[in-house]
Amino acid sequence: MKVDGKPMRTIWVEADGTVGIIDQTKLPHRFETRKLQSLADAAHAIKSMQVRGAPLIGAAAAYGVALALREDASDANLEHACVALAATRPTAINLKWALDEMAAAVRNRPRAERVAAAYTRAAEICEEDVGINQGIGRHGLGLIEAVAIRKRPGEPVNVLTHCNAGWLATVDGGTALAPVYAAHDKGIAMHVFVDETRPRNQGAALTAWELLHHGVPHTVIADNAGGHLMQHGQVDLCIVGADRVTAQGDVANKIGTYLKALAAQDNGVPFYIGLPSPTIDFALGDGLAEIPIEERGADEVTHITGATTDDQIVTVRLTPKESRAANYGFDVTPARLVTALITERGVIEANRTALAAAFPERAARRPAVASR
Ligand code: MRU
Repeated sequence: MKVDGKPMRTIWVEADGTVGIIDQTKLPHRFETRKLQSLADAAHAIKSMQVRGAPLIGAAAAYGVALALREDASDANLEHACVALAATRPTAINLKWALDEMAAAVRNRPRAERVAAAYTRAAEICEEDVGINQGIGRHGLGLIEAVAIRKRPGEPVNVLTHCNAGWLATVDGGTALAPVYAAHDKGIAMHVFVDETRPRNQGAALTAWELLHHGVPHTVIADNAGGHLMQHGQVDLCIVGADRVTAQGDVANKIGTYLKALAAQDNGVPFYIGLPSPTIDFALGDGLAEIPIEERGADEVTHITGATTDDQIVTVRLTPKESRAANYGFDVTPARLVTALITERGVIEANRTALAAAFPERAARRPAVASR
């Protein structure tokens, strides 16, 4: 993606081995970058959501291991880094996937080779993410083209998306938004309804920001508006991302996704998941019972951050001081509500047989680091 005309990724390595990131907690008001110098910096960046989105969390964790080994390349520190990073965010399986990949890449090497091997594997994970997202874009494009054919000239295809599963959630290209960008870049008229996505507002802050920068027409809507729009025929298809998909096709994604899937089914609107294969957790079956759901601080619900008219960033309280609040980060959409999964290997049904047939090498493998 381009930021102010300059091609950019969401994570990169500086000449001194430190790791550059965009601080997503400052968007859309400020575009600021940060340098991660240590394991502690990487763990903080993931936990505080300076970097977020399942694929980017995986990439940041991979570099977190490389930074940790730079400090101490012992077995004990490798183990410590994997445990510390795995504890930062529990729902996105890409985190554990990336840590397993990193541990496998360095574990059996002499200490002197470990740092270089870690940077190499982390860079590969980033490249793989970019390639995967291009595949999702290519395969999802066909679904959008099929809708566009039925439109009058110039009439846009209306997509509804939730949270941010775009460029900012990945190393580059996005997952759910990859087909939208592919269609827009091909000249298909697109319009995206962007759920604001309380409480962290990844839709209002991040999806809107990146669509704006790429020139894709969009409208930010309150989280509860999607059902109304679907009832009135204003949404052609929903495309959302995923933080973890089980072997049977249940989908954990940002809180509120399930309600959109229900509304989509009631109104005959196709509900697609843009899904990179590292997001599949073949160790789990029943998503509702087995996927750990992150609970974050209540302050994200009781308070909101924004910019004043003179561009100061401020945080204000929304609720009575005495009211309790709860902050569930994700929900699970059962496979029966998912029209199809858009993967790098094609558009597939959300069920055990289709997932195992599309990714046989993943289905046969069990992760080395605990997966829940
Ligand atoms: O809490 P976040 O911002 O890390 O959650 C990200 C999401 O849930 C996204 O919607 C997304 O679908 C997963 S990342 C491609």
